[in-house]
Amino acid sequence: MTPLRLAPLASILAVILLATTAGLRAEDAGEIPHFAQKDGRHAFIVDGEPFFLLGGQCGNSSAWPSELPGVWSAVERMHANTLEAPVYWEQFEPQEGRYDTSIVDLMVRQAREHHVRLVLLWFGTWKNGSAHYLPLWIKDHPELYPKCIGKTGLPVDTPSPHFPAMLAADTRAFRALMRHLKAIDPIHTVIMVQVENESGAWGTIRDYSPAAQAVFAQPVPSELLKALGLDSKSGGDWTAVFGADADEYFHAWFVARFVGQVAAAGKEEYALPMYANAALRDPLSPGPAGTYESGGPTDNVLSIWKAAAPALDVLAPDIYQNDNARYRRVLELYSRPDNPLLVPETGGSPWYAHMVFAALGKGALGWSPFGINHATDPDADRGAKPDADRLSPVGTNFRIIGPVMREVARLEYEGKLLALAEDADVHRQTGELAGWKVAVTYGVARFGFGKDPKGNPEPVGGAIVGSTGPDEFLVTGRSCRVDFQPLESEPKAQREFLRVEEGDYENGVFTPLRIWNGDETDYGLNFGTAPVALRVRVRRY
Ligand code: DGJ
Repeated sequence: MTPLRLAPLASILAVILLATTAGLRAEDAGEIPHFAQKDGRHAFIVDGEPFFLLGGQCGNSSAWPSELPGVWSAVERMHANTLEAPVYWEQFEPQEGRYDTSIVDLMVRQAREHHVRLVLLWFGTWKNGSAHYLPLWIKDHPELYPKCIGKTGLPVDTPSPHFPAMLAADTRAFRALMRHLKAIDPIHTVIMVQVENESGAWGTIRDYSPAAQAVFAQPVPSELLKALGLDSKSGGDWTAVFGADADEYFHAWFVARFVGQVAAAGKEEYALPMYANAALRDPLSPGPAGTYESGGPTDNVLSIWKAAAPALDVLAPDIYQNDNARYRRVLELYSRPDNPLLVPETGGSPWYAHMVFAALGKGALGWSPFGINHATDPDADRGAKPDADRLSPVGTNFRIIGPVMREVARLEYEGKLLALAEDADVHRQTGELAGWKVAVTYGVARFGFGKDPKGNPEPVGGAIVGSTGPDEFLVTGRSCRVDFQPLESEPKAQREFLRVEEGDYENGVFTPLRIWNGDETDYGLNFGTAPVALRVRVRRY
Protein backbone atom coordinates (compact mmCIF):
# COMPACT_ATOMS: atom_id res chain seq x y z
CA MET A 1 0.00 0.00 0.00
CA THR A 2 1.34 3.40 -0.91
CA PRO A 3 0.97 5.95 1.85
CA LEU A 4 -1.05 8.94 0.73
CA ARG A 5 -0.33 12.44 1.83
CA LEU A 6 -3.56 14.03 2.99
CA ALA A 7 -3.86 16.70 0.39
CA PRO A 8 -7.01 18.55 -0.63
CA LEU A 9 -6.89 16.96 -4.10
CA ALA A 10 -6.62 13.45 -2.72
CA SER A 11 -9.51 14.12 -0.37
CA ILE A 12 -11.70 15.50 -3.12
CA LEU A 13 -10.96 12.51 -5.37
CA ALA A 14 -11.71 10.15 -2.50
CA VAL A 15 -15.09 11.84 -1.89
CA ILE A 16 -16.04 11.58 -5.56
CA LEU A 17 -14.95 7.94 -5.72
CA LEU A 18 -16.72 6.89 -2.54
CA ALA A 19 -19.89 8.83 -3.26
CA THR A 20 -20.05 7.41 -6.78
CA THR A 21 -19.63 3.86 -5.53
CA ALA A 22 -22.53 4.33 -3.17
CA GLY A 23 -24.70 6.07 -5.76
CA LEU A 24 -24.92 9.11 -3.54
CA ARG A 25 -24.74 12.81 -4.17
CA ALA A 26 -23.23 15.46 -1.93
CA GLU A 27 -26.71 16.89 -1.29
CA ASP A 28 -27.66 13.58 0.35
CA ALA A 29 -25.58 14.68 3.32
CA GLY A 30 -27.80 14.57 6.37
CA GLU A 31 -27.70 15.71 9.94
CA ILE A 32 -24.50 14.66 11.69
CA PRO A 33 -25.01 11.75 14.13
CA HIS A 34 -25.17 12.99 17.72
CA PHE A 35 -26.50 12.22 21.16
CA ALA A 36 -29.64 13.86 22.49
CA GLN A 37 -30.91 14.00 26.04
CA LYS A 38 -34.26 14.66 27.68
CA ASP A 39 -35.58 14.00 31.18
CA GLY A 40 -32.45 12.03 32.07
CA ARG A 41 -32.85 9.72 29.07
CA HIS A 42 -30.57 9.57 26.04
CA ALA A 43 -30.88 8.92 22.33
CA PHE A 44 -28.33 8.27 19.59
CA ILE A 45 -29.63 10.30 16.67
CA VAL A 46 -28.67 8.94 13.25
CA ASP A 47 -30.27 10.39 10.10
CA GLY A 48 -32.32 12.66 12.34
CA GLU A 49 -34.01 9.87 14.33
CA PRO A 50 -33.21 7.77 17.40
CA PHE A 51 -31.13 4.74 16.39
CA PHE A 52 -30.27 1.54 18.21
CA LEU A 53 -26.91 0.14 17.21
CA LEU A 54 -27.23 -3.60 16.55
CA GLY A 55 -23.52 -4.05 16.19
CA GLY A 56 -20.76 -6.53 15.70
CA GLN A 57 -17.05 -5.92 16.33
CA CYS A 58 -14.49 -7.74 14.21
CA GLY A 59 -11.34 -9.32 15.63
CA ASN A 60 -8.34 -7.14 16.37
CA SER A 61 -6.37 -8.13 13.26
CA SER A 62 -9.33 -8.29 10.91
CA ALA A 63 -9.61 -4.75 9.53
CA TRP A 64 -7.37 -5.70 6.60
CA PRO A 65 -8.45 -6.16 3.00
CA SER A 66 -7.60 -9.88 3.17
CA GLU A 67 -9.91 -10.40 6.16
CA LEU A 68 -12.83 -8.11 5.39
CA PRO A 69 -14.77 -10.66 3.27
CA GLY A 70 -15.07 -12.86 6.38
CA VAL A 71 -16.07 -9.84 8.47
CA TRP A 72 -18.87 -8.84 6.08
CA SER A 73 -20.10 -12.41 5.94
CA ALA A 74 -20.40 -12.36 9.75
CA VAL A 75 -22.17 -8.98 9.69
CA GLU A 76 -24.72 -10.38 7.26
CA ARG A 77 -25.25 -13.62 9.18
CA MET A 78 -25.87 -11.75 12.39
CA HIS A 79 -28.18 -9.13 10.80
CA ALA A 80 -26.17 -6.29 12.33
CA ASN A 81 -26.84 -2.70 11.27
CA THR A 82 -23.33 -1.53 12.25
CA LEU A 83 -19.80 -2.89 12.01
CA GLU A 84 -17.27 -1.79 14.61
CA ALA A 85 -13.76 -2.03 13.19
CA PRO A 86 -10.31 -0.77 14.25
CA VAL A 87 -8.13 1.80 12.55
CA TYR A 88 -4.56 0.92 13.46
CA TRP A 89 -2.23 3.83 14.09
CA GLU A 90 0.75 1.74 12.86
CA GLN A 91 -1.04 1.24 9.53
CA PHE A 92 -2.61 4.69 9.28
CA GLU A 93 0.63 6.63 9.82
CA PRO A 94 3.44 4.29 8.74
CA GLN A 95 5.87 7.19 8.48
CA GLU A 96 5.65 10.33 10.54
CA GLY A 97 3.17 12.73 8.92
CA ARG A 98 2.32 10.38 6.02
CA TYR A 99 -1.14 8.90 6.22
CA ASP A 100 -2.41 5.77 4.51
CA THR A 101 -6.18 6.09 4.25
CA SER A 102 -6.65 3.15 1.91
CA ILE A 103 -8.17 0.77 4.47
CA VAL A 104 -10.49 3.39 5.94
CA ASP A 105 -11.68 4.21 2.42
CA LEU A 106 -12.21 0.52 1.66
CA MET A 107 -14.21 -0.06 4.84
CA VAL A 108 -16.43 2.96 4.20
CA ARG A 109 -17.06 1.85 0.62
CA GLN A 110 -17.80 -1.75 1.62
CA ALA A 111 -20.04 -0.69 4.51
CA ARG A 112 -22.16 1.26 2.03
CA GLU A 113 -22.30 -1.72 -0.30
CA HIS A 114 -23.53 -3.83 2.62
CA HIS A 115 -25.98 -1.14 3.80
CA VAL A 116 -24.56 -0.96 7.29
CA ARG A 117 -22.99 1.84 9.34
CA LEU A 118 -19.50 1.92 10.80
CA VAL A 119 -18.05 2.70 14.19
CA LEU A 120 -14.30 3.16 13.86
CA LEU A 121 -12.06 2.26 16.78
CA TRP A 122 -8.91 4.36 17.04
CA PHE A 123 -6.19 1.93 18.17
CA GLY A 124 -3.76 4.71 19.07
CA THR A 125 -1.62 5.19 22.17
CA TRP A 126 -3.56 2.59 24.19
CA LYS A 127 -4.82 -0.83 23.13
CA ASN A 128 -5.91 -2.88 26.15
CA GLY A 129 -3.52 -0.79 28.22
CA SER A 130 -0.54 -1.60 26.01
CA ALA A 131 1.21 0.51 23.38
CA HIS A 132 1.30 -2.24 20.77
CA TYR A 133 -0.31 -0.28 17.93
CA LEU A 134 2.18 2.59 17.95
CA PRO A 135 3.88 3.10 14.58
CA LEU A 136 7.43 1.80 14.38
CA TRP A 137 8.82 5.32 14.12
CA ILE A 138 7.45 5.88 17.65
CA LYS A 139 8.37 2.46 19.05
CA ASP A 140 11.95 3.15 17.93
CA HIS A 141 12.15 6.20 20.21
CA PRO A 142 11.24 5.14 23.74
CA GLU A 143 13.16 8.11 25.11
CA LEU A 144 10.53 10.43 23.57
CA TYR A 145 7.52 8.15 24.03
CA PRO A 146 8.16 6.29 27.30
CA LYS A 147 6.31 3.48 28.98
CA CYS A 148 5.21 3.74 32.62
CA ILE A 149 7.75 2.84 35.27
CA GLY A 150 6.33 0.49 37.88
CA LYS A 151 6.82 0.73 41.64
CA THR A 152 9.86 -1.55 41.43
CA GLY A 153 11.56 0.87 39.04
CA LEU A 154 11.17 -1.40 36.00
CA PRO A 155 9.31 -0.30 32.86
CA VAL A 156 5.83 -1.76 32.38
CA ASP A 157 4.22 -2.54 29.00
CA THR A 158 1.86 0.43 29.10
CA PRO A 159 2.34 3.98 27.78
CA SER A 160 2.70 6.83 30.21
CA PRO A 161 0.15 9.64 29.89
CA HIS A 162 2.64 12.23 31.15
CA PHE A 163 4.73 12.93 28.05
CA PRO A 164 3.70 15.69 25.62
CA ALA A 165 5.39 14.14 22.55
CA MET A 166 3.05 11.16 22.67
CA LEU A 167 -0.02 13.33 23.14
CA ALA A 168 1.04 15.59 20.27
CA ALA A 169 1.70 12.66 17.92
CA ASP A 170 -1.55 10.85 18.76
CA THR A 171 -3.57 14.05 18.50
CA ARG A 172 -2.09 14.91 15.11
CA ALA A 173 -2.82 11.45 13.69
CA PHE A 174 -6.34 11.38 15.10
CA ARG A 175 -7.02 14.82 13.67
CA ALA A 176 -5.90 13.52 10.27
CA LEU A 177 -8.29 10.59 10.56
CA MET A 178 -11.26 12.78 11.49
CA ARG A 179 -10.40 15.33 8.80
CA HIS A 180 -10.32 12.56 6.23
CA LEU A 181 -13.63 11.10 7.42
CA LYS A 182 -15.24 14.50 7.13
CA ALA A 183 -13.99 14.77 3.56
CA ILE A 184 -15.04 11.32 2.35
CA ASP A 185 -18.21 10.70 4.32
CA PRO A 186 -20.84 13.41 3.80
CA ILE A 187 -23.60 10.81 4.23
CA HIS A 188 -22.34 9.64 7.63
CA THR A 189 -21.66 6.00 7.01
CA VAL A 190 -19.33 6.36 10.00
CA ILE A 191 -21.61 7.22 12.90
CA MET A 192 -19.28 7.18 15.89
CA VAL A 193 -15.62 6.85 16.83
CA GLN A 194 -13.99 5.11 19.76
CA VAL A 195 -10.94 6.98 21.07
CA GLU A 196 -8.15 4.54 22.02
CA ASN A 197 -9.08 1.07 23.21
CA GLU A 198 -9.42 0.13 26.87
CA SER A 199 -6.94 2.80 27.89
CA GLY A 200 -5.27 2.49 31.29
CA ALA A 201 -2.54 0.31 32.72
CA TRP A 202 -2.10 -3.38 33.42
CA GLY A 203 0.82 -4.35 35.64
CA THR A 204 1.06 -1.09 37.54
CA ILE A 205 -1.49 1.23 39.13
CA ARG A 206 0.23 4.29 37.71
CA ASP A 207 3.47 5.68 36.36
CA TYR A 208 6.14 6.01 39.10
CA SER A 209 8.79 7.59 36.83
CA PRO A 210 10.56 10.68 38.20
CA ALA A 211 8.48 12.88 35.86
CA ALA A 212 5.23 11.36 37.11
CA GLN A 213 6.39 11.49 40.75
CA ALA A 214 6.91 15.24 40.42
CA VAL A 215 3.33 15.68 39.19
CA PHE A 216 2.02 13.36 41.90
CA ALA A 217 3.52 15.65 44.56
CA GLN A 218 1.64 18.67 43.21
CA PRO A 219 -1.79 19.79 44.44
CA VAL A 220 -4.82 18.01 42.96
CA PRO A 221 -6.19 20.23 40.15
CA SER A 222 -8.97 22.43 41.50
CA GLU A 223 -11.25 21.57 38.55
CA LEU A 224 -11.20 17.92 39.63
CA LEU A 225 -11.88 18.81 43.26
CA LYS A 226 -14.75 21.02 42.19
CA ALA A 227 -16.22 18.33 39.93
CA LEU A 228 -16.13 15.84 42.81
CA GLY A 229 -17.74 18.32 45.23
CA LEU A 230 -14.55 18.60 47.30
CA ASP A 231 -12.93 21.76 48.69
CA SER A 232 -11.38 23.21 45.55
CA LYS A 233 -9.04 25.43 47.52
CA SER A 234 -7.61 22.66 49.68
CA GLY A 235 -4.23 22.72 47.93
CA GLY A 236 -3.63 19.15 49.07
CA ASP A 237 -1.62 16.73 46.96
CA TRP A 238 -3.04 13.44 45.67
CA THR A 239 -2.20 11.43 48.78
CA ALA A 240 -3.54 14.10 51.14
CA VAL A 241 -6.85 14.32 49.28
CA PHE A 242 -7.49 10.74 48.17
CA GLY A 243 -5.51 8.59 50.63
CA ALA A 244 -5.43 4.93 49.58
CA ASP A 245 -7.12 5.74 46.23
CA ALA A 246 -4.54 8.37 45.27
CA ASP A 247 -2.47 6.25 42.85
CA GLU A 248 -5.49 4.99 40.93
CA TYR A 249 -7.30 8.35 40.80
CA PHE A 250 -4.10 10.07 39.69
CA HIS A 251 -3.69 7.66 36.79
CA ALA A 252 -7.38 7.90 35.88
CA TRP A 253 -7.21 11.69 35.76
CA PHE A 254 -4.14 11.81 33.53
CA VAL A 255 -5.18 9.00 31.19
CA ALA A 256 -8.62 10.63 30.86
CA ARG A 257 -7.06 14.06 30.24
CA PHE A 258 -4.94 12.56 27.49
CA VAL A 259 -7.81 10.68 25.83
CA GLY A 260 -10.10 13.69 26.26
CA GLN A 261 -7.61 15.95 24.51
CA VAL A 262 -7.26 13.53 21.60
CA ALA A 263 -11.07 13.40 21.33
CA ALA A 264 -11.43 17.19 21.55
CA ALA A 265 -8.87 17.70 18.78
CA GLY A 266 -10.64 15.13 16.60
CA LYS A 267 -13.96 16.84 17.18
CA GLU A 268 -12.49 20.16 16.09
CA GLU A 269 -11.97 18.50 12.72
CA TYR A 270 -15.23 16.59 12.60
CA ALA A 271 -17.61 16.38 15.54
CA LEU A 272 -18.85 12.80 15.39
CA PRO A 273 -19.94 11.25 18.69
CA MET A 274 -16.96 9.79 20.56
CA TYR A 275 -16.56 7.35 23.39
CA ALA A 276 -13.94 5.56 25.47
CA ASN A 277 -14.37 1.91 26.38
CA ALA A 278 -13.50 0.27 29.68
CA ALA A 279 -11.99 -3.02 30.74
CA LEU A 280 -14.22 -3.52 33.74
CA ARG A 281 -13.54 -4.42 37.31
CA ASP A 282 -15.84 -6.96 38.91
CA PRO A 283 -19.05 -4.97 39.50
CA LEU A 284 -20.04 -6.91 42.63
CA SER A 285 -16.71 -7.59 44.35
CA PRO A 286 -14.10 -5.43 42.63
CA GLY A 287 -11.02 -6.15 44.73
CA PRO A 288 -8.24 -3.62 45.25
CA ALA A 289 -6.68 -1.37 42.61
CA GLY A 290 -4.06 -3.27 40.67
CA THR A 291 -6.25 -6.36 40.28
CA TYR A 292 -8.00 -4.78 37.27
CA GLU A 293 -6.91 -2.34 34.58
CA SER A 294 -6.00 0.90 36.33
CA GLY A 295 -6.85 4.38 35.09
CA GLY A 296 -9.43 3.44 32.46
CA PRO A 297 -13.10 4.41 32.86
CA THR A 298 -13.93 1.74 35.44
CA ASP A 299 -17.13 2.29 37.41
CA ASN A 300 -15.37 3.82 40.43
CA VAL A 301 -13.73 6.63 38.43
CA LEU A 302 -16.50 7.61 36.01
CA SER A 303 -16.85 11.04 37.64
CA ILE A 304 -13.11 11.64 37.31
CA TRP A 305 -13.29 10.77 33.60
CA LYS A 306 -16.35 12.99 33.13
CA ALA A 307 -14.48 15.95 34.62
CA ALA A 308 -11.24 15.24 32.76
CA ALA A 309 -12.62 14.40 29.32
CA PRO A 310 -15.77 16.39 28.53
CA ALA A 311 -15.24 15.82 24.78
CA LEU A 312 -16.13 12.15 25.25
CA ASP A 313 -19.87 11.61 24.94
CA VAL A 314 -19.89 8.18 26.50
CA LEU A 315 -17.85 6.05 28.88
CA ALA A 316 -18.75 2.57 27.77
CA PRO A 317 -18.40 -0.85 29.39
CA ASP A 318 -16.96 -3.87 27.55
CA ILE A 319 -19.02 -6.58 29.22
CA TYR A 320 -17.50 -10.02 29.37
CA GLN A 321 -19.22 -11.09 32.60
CA ASN A 322 -21.42 -13.99 31.59
CA ASP A 323 -23.67 -14.15 34.59
CA ASN A 324 -26.95 -12.38 35.09
CA ALA A 325 -26.24 -10.49 38.26
CA ARG A 326 -22.91 -9.07 37.13
CA TYR A 327 -24.11 -8.22 33.65
CA ARG A 328 -27.15 -6.36 34.93
CA ARG A 329 -25.11 -4.55 37.58
CA VAL A 330 -22.71 -3.24 34.93
CA LEU A 331 -25.66 -1.95 32.89
CA GLU A 332 -26.88 -0.07 35.97
CA LEU A 333 -23.47 1.39 36.80
CA TYR A 334 -22.92 2.86 33.33
CA SER A 335 -26.45 4.13 32.75
CA ARG A 336 -26.48 7.61 34.29
CA PRO A 337 -28.09 10.95 33.50
CA ASP A 338 -24.59 12.18 32.57
CA ASN A 339 -23.67 9.01 30.65
CA PRO A 340 -25.65 7.29 27.91
CA LEU A 341 -25.46 3.50 28.17
CA LEU A 342 -23.62 1.89 25.26
CA VAL A 343 -22.18 -1.63 25.18
CA PRO A 344 -19.55 -1.44 22.44
CA GLU A 345 -18.16 -4.88 23.24
CA THR A 346 -19.63 -7.94 24.82
CA GLY A 347 -18.98 -11.66 24.68
CA GLY A 348 -19.69 -13.38 21.37
CA SER A 349 -20.68 -16.77 22.77
CA PRO A 350 -24.35 -17.80 22.66
CA TRP A 351 -25.12 -17.01 26.32
CA TYR A 352 -24.67 -13.28 25.74
CA ALA A 353 -27.24 -13.04 22.94
CA HIS A 354 -30.31 -12.40 25.12
CA MET A 355 -28.52 -9.63 27.02
CA VAL A 356 -29.38 -7.30 24.14
CA PHE A 357 -32.89 -7.25 25.66
CA ALA A 358 -31.48 -6.46 29.12
CA ALA A 359 -29.41 -3.62 27.64
CA LEU A 360 -32.46 -2.16 25.90
CA GLY A 361 -34.38 -2.41 29.16
CA LYS A 362 -31.76 -0.22 30.81
CA GLY A 363 -31.90 2.40 28.07
CA ALA A 364 -28.87 1.33 26.03
CA LEU A 365 -28.20 3.01 22.70
CA GLY A 366 -26.28 0.12 21.22
CA TRP A 367 -24.98 -3.36 21.87
CA SER A 368 -22.26 -5.21 20.02
CA PRO A 369 -20.63 -8.63 20.45
CA PHE A 370 -16.87 -8.87 19.92
CA GLY A 371 -14.92 -11.07 17.53
CA ILE A 372 -17.78 -11.73 15.14
CA ASN A 373 -15.55 -13.19 12.45
CA HIS A 374 -13.69 -15.46 14.85
CA ALA A 375 -14.59 -19.10 14.57
CA THR A 376 -13.06 -22.31 15.79
CA ASP A 377 -12.22 -23.22 12.21
CA PRO A 378 -9.45 -20.75 11.26
CA ASP A 379 -10.56 -20.85 7.61
CA ALA A 380 -13.93 -19.54 8.70
CA ASP A 381 -12.21 -16.23 9.58
CA ARG A 382 -11.46 -15.91 5.88
CA GLY A 383 -15.05 -16.11 4.79
CA ALA A 384 -15.77 -19.85 4.84
CA LYS A 385 -18.99 -20.58 6.68
CA PRO A 386 -18.29 -22.35 9.99
CA ASP A 387 -20.21 -25.55 10.70
CA ALA A 388 -22.05 -24.40 13.78
CA ASP A 389 -22.57 -20.68 13.52
CA ARG A 390 -22.07 -19.28 16.99
CA LEU A 391 -23.50 -15.99 15.72
CA SER A 392 -26.87 -17.55 15.12
CA PRO A 393 -28.42 -16.72 18.56
CA VAL A 394 -27.44 -13.06 18.16
CA GLY A 395 -28.64 -13.19 14.55
CA THR A 396 -32.02 -14.47 15.70
CA ASN A 397 -32.40 -11.56 18.10
CA PHE A 398 -31.12 -8.93 15.68
CA ARG A 399 -33.57 -10.26 13.06
CA ILE A 400 -36.36 -9.74 15.58
CA ILE A 401 -35.28 -6.27 16.70
CA GLY A 402 -33.98 -4.99 13.34
CA PRO A 403 -37.33 -4.37 11.64
CA VAL A 404 -38.66 -2.38 14.63
CA MET A 405 -35.32 -0.78 15.56
CA ARG A 406 -36.40 2.80 14.86
CA GLU A 407 -39.70 2.45 16.78
CA VAL A 408 -37.93 0.78 19.69
CA ALA A 409 -35.24 3.49 19.82
CA ARG A 410 -37.86 6.27 19.69
CA LEU A 411 -40.05 4.69 22.38
CA GLU A 412 -37.01 4.08 24.55
CA TYR A 413 -36.07 7.77 24.28
CA GLU A 414 -39.63 8.77 25.20
CA GLY A 415 -39.58 6.52 28.28
CA LYS A 416 -42.31 4.28 26.82
CA LEU A 417 -40.40 1.04 26.49
CA LEU A 418 -40.13 -2.06 28.59
CA ALA A 419 -37.56 -4.68 27.63
CA LEU A 420 -36.83 -7.78 29.66
CA ALA A 421 -34.29 -10.59 29.31
CA GLU A 422 -34.72 -14.08 30.68
CA ASP A 423 -32.89 -14.97 33.87
CA ALA A 424 -32.05 -18.67 34.30
CA ASP A 425 -33.61 -18.64 37.79
CA VAL A 426 -36.69 -16.48 37.13
CA HIS A 427 -39.30 -17.75 34.69
CA ARG A 428 -41.92 -15.02 35.13
CA GLN A 429 -41.09 -11.34 35.01
CA THR A 430 -43.40 -8.36 35.24
CA GLY A 431 -43.16 -4.65 34.59
CA GLU A 432 -45.51 -1.72 34.49
CA LEU A 433 -46.14 0.27 31.32
CA ALA A 434 -48.79 2.88 30.45
CA GLY A 435 -51.24 1.77 33.14
CA TRP A 436 -50.87 -1.98 32.50
CA LYS A 437 -48.93 -4.75 34.14
CA VAL A 438 -46.93 -6.60 31.50
CA ALA A 439 -46.19 -10.24 32.32
CA VAL A 440 -43.51 -12.18 30.46
CA THR A 441 -43.14 -15.92 30.95
CA TYR A 442 -40.49 -18.29 29.62
CA GLY A 443 -40.80 -21.99 28.86
CA VAL A 444 -44.59 -22.34 28.62
CA ALA A 445 -46.36 -24.63 26.15
CA ARG A 446 -48.04 -22.87 23.24
CA PHE A 447 -51.47 -24.08 24.43
CA GLY A 448 -52.61 -23.69 28.02
CA PHE A 449 -52.43 -20.93 30.56
CA GLY A 450 -48.84 -21.64 31.51
CA LYS A 451 -49.29 -21.04 35.24
CA ASP A 452 -46.06 -22.85 36.02
CA PRO A 453 -43.46 -21.64 33.51
CA LYS A 454 -40.34 -23.79 33.41
CA GLY A 455 -37.95 -21.43 31.68
CA ASN A 456 -36.28 -22.18 28.37
CA PRO A 457 -33.69 -25.00 28.46
CA GLU A 458 -31.08 -22.20 28.22
CA PRO A 459 -31.90 -18.57 29.11
CA VAL A 460 -32.38 -17.27 25.57
CA GLY A 461 -35.65 -15.36 25.90
CA GLY A 462 -36.45 -11.69 25.84
CA ALA A 463 -39.37 -9.36 25.27
CA ILE A 464 -39.90 -5.81 24.08
CA VAL A 465 -43.12 -3.91 24.76
CA GLY A 466 -43.59 -0.28 23.77
CA SER A 467 -46.53 1.99 24.50
CA THR A 468 -47.70 3.42 21.17
CA GLY A 469 -50.98 5.02 22.31
CA PRO A 470 -53.71 4.69 24.95
CA ASP A 471 -54.11 0.94 25.58
CA GLU A 472 -52.06 0.22 22.46
CA PHE A 473 -48.66 -1.50 22.34
CA LEU A 474 -45.93 -2.65 20.01
CA VAL A 475 -44.89 -6.12 21.16
CA THR A 476 -42.11 -8.40 20.01
CA GLY A 477 -39.93 -11.02 21.61
CA ARG A 478 -37.89 -14.18 21.48
CA SER A 479 -38.92 -17.52 23.05
CA CYS A 480 -41.38 -16.07 25.52
CA ARG A 481 -45.04 -15.31 26.15
CA VAL A 482 -46.22 -11.75 26.73
CA ASP A 483 -49.52 -10.86 28.39
CA PHE A 484 -51.17 -7.80 29.89
CA GLN A 485 -53.01 -7.50 33.19
CA PRO A 486 -54.80 -4.63 34.93
CA LEU A 487 -52.79 -3.12 37.78
CA GLU A 488 -52.93 -4.56 41.32
CA SER A 489 -55.04 -1.55 42.30
CA GLU A 490 -57.91 -2.82 40.07
CA PRO A 491 -58.60 -6.33 41.47
CA LYS A 492 -61.95 -6.65 39.70
CA ALA A 493 -60.78 -5.68 36.23
CA GLN A 494 -59.84 -8.18 33.56
CA ARG A 495 -57.94 -7.88 30.31
CA GLU A 496 -59.47 -8.33 26.89
CA PHE A 497 -57.46 -8.38 23.65
CA LEU A 498 -59.46 -6.00 21.50
CA ARG A 499 -57.30 -6.54 18.46
CA VAL A 500 -53.89 -8.13 17.89
CA GLU A 501 -52.34 -7.52 14.50
CA GLU A 502 -49.10 -8.84 13.09
CA GLY A 503 -47.44 -6.53 10.61
CA ASP A 504 -44.62 -4.18 9.71
CA TYR A 505 -43.61 -0.93 11.34
CA GLU A 506 -41.88 1.65 9.22
CA ASN A 507 -41.26 5.25 10.19
CA GLY A 508 -43.92 4.99 12.87
CA VAL A 509 -46.52 3.64 10.41
CA PHE A 510 -47.90 0.16 10.98
CA THR A 511 -49.02 -1.99 8.04
CA PRO A 512 -51.00 -5.03 9.21
CA LEU A 513 -50.53 -8.43 7.57
CA ARG A 514 -52.99 -10.50 9.57
CA ILE A 515 -55.06 -10.51 12.73
CA TRP A 516 -54.09 -12.90 15.54
CA ASN A 517 -57.04 -14.53 17.33
CA GLY A 518 -58.13 -17.88 18.77
CA ASP A 519 -55.18 -20.08 19.80
CA GLU A 520 -52.80 -17.23 19.00
CA THR A 521 -54.25 -14.95 21.69
CA ASP A 522 -56.33 -17.09 24.08
CA TYR A 523 -53.39 -17.88 26.36
CA GLY A 524 -51.24 -14.83 25.77
CA LEU A 525 -48.95 -13.82 22.92
CA ASN A 526 -46.34 -16.47 22.14
CA PHE A 527 -43.04 -15.65 20.47
CA GLY A 528 -40.52 -18.14 19.09
CA THR A 529 -37.46 -17.43 17.01
CA ALA A 530 -39.14 -15.79 14.00
CA PRO A 531 -39.27 -12.01 13.69
CA VAL A 532 -42.82 -11.01 14.62
CA ALA A 533 -44.01 -7.50 15.38
CA LEU A 534 -47.47 -7.07 16.86
CA ARG A 535 -49.73 -4.08 17.33
CA VAL A 536 -51.82 -4.95 20.35
CA ARG A 537 -54.92 -3.17 21.57
CA VAL A 538 -56.21 -4.14 25.01
CA ARG A 539 -59.03 -3.00 27.24
CA ARG A 540 -60.45 -3.68 30.68
CA TYR A 541 -63.85 -5.25 31.31
C1 DGJ B 1 -11.32 -6.33 24.91
C2 DGJ B 1 -10.61 -5.49 23.88
O1 DGJ B 1 -11.14 -4.19 23.88
C3 DGJ B 1 -10.69 -6.10 22.49
O2 DGJ B 1 -9.96 -5.33 21.58
C4 DGJ B 1 -10.21 -7.53 22.54
O3 DGJ B 1 -8.86 -7.56 22.90
C5 DGJ B 1 -11.06 -8.29 23.52
N1 DGJ B 1 -10.94 -7.72 24.84
C6 DGJ B 1 -10.67 -9.76 23.57
O4 DGJ B 1 -11.46 -10.46 24.46
